[in-house]
Amino acid sequence: MKRIGVLTRDCAGVNAAIRALVRSACVYGIEVYGIFRGYQGLIEGDLKPLTRRSVSGIINLGGTILKTARSKQFQTLAGQRQAVKTLRDNKIEGLAVIGGNGSLTGAHQLANKYSMPVIGIPATIDNDVNGVEMSIGADTAVNVALDALDKIRDTATSLERIFVVEVMGRDCGYIALRVALAGGCEEVLLPEKSFSIKTICEEIVEGNIQGKVSWIIVVAEGKAKAADIAKKINTFTGLETREVVLGHIQRGGRPTAFDRIIAARYANYALEALKAGKSDKCVTLKEGKLTIIPLAKAIRPKDIEINAYYKLIRILT
Ligand code: F6P
Repeated sequence: MKRIGVLTRDCAGVNAAIRALVRSACVYGIEVYGIFRGYQGLIEGDLKPLTRRSVSGIINLGGTILKTARSKQFQTLAGQRQAVKTLRDNKIEGLAVIGGNGSLTGAHQLANKYSMPVIGIPATIDNDVNGVEMSIGADTAVNVALDALDKIRDTATSLERIFVVEVMGRDCGYIALRVALAGGCEEVLLPEKSFSIKTICEEIVEGNIQGKVSWIIVVAEGKAKAADIAKKINTFTGLETREVVLGHIQRGGRPTAFDRIIAARYANYALEALKAGKSDKCVTLKEGKLTIIPLAKAIRPKDIEINAYYKLIRILT
């Protein structure tokens, strides 16, 4: 194997993974081409070689130096064929795809339909890649959201207010659940779980009677809008309620040590897997050890552990 390519989505730790992939490849004299703007750049032939030096000073940077984009064209047969042509024209013998479900679905298609050697590296703040314990970026996202939540708590406590904090997660409550537990929040609303606003309001009123004066409720963006929940609580309880939407700050920023470490380990393992002729696989940790699982499995919906965490959040309220 002489040359491989890499394309990515964005989240904290992706640059650390690019760096580790390039430098691991250098050990074997394998060239790495960086593909810009994800699958769209692959279709358009937007790529250039990455050297050991060109990935200097990026280990601590959020986002992706390769930039990224959503590609409607890659959903079409013509787009996929053009993407494969770019790889063949540039003599790219293997591809590492760093991203979440969408990116890994594309990786599976390239491997499965076009026999392209492809290895996926899971990177998504939602941590919703099936069969993968931890995706790159999820730990940073939880820590960024927690940092914001701790600051919000200062005002919640000082002014005796209710706050509804909206975190990312369209289909998956991973961030919401972790932040609610780590932040000592009273309630969490998840895409995977139904809730009763009336019950929540009644609990707030009852708590208030007993002297509990501040609440923080975390809501995953896919479940409800923080503003709607805050309005309902205020209307029902008459208590001052504010909403905060954390948004994309959770996806950016300086990666945590944990994310940099899994980025390095995953990328190095992905390079070894490509070199060993493996394809259509996704790297992961299983009980602390690196392994690979089929991409077909990785892109299936993930069942995240809700109940034990939720129960604990409620016990500790
Ligand atoms: O999948 C990662 C994620 O950040 C989700 O948590 C969020 O719902 C979505 O992407 C937002 O996507 P976009 O940045 O395209 O609006």
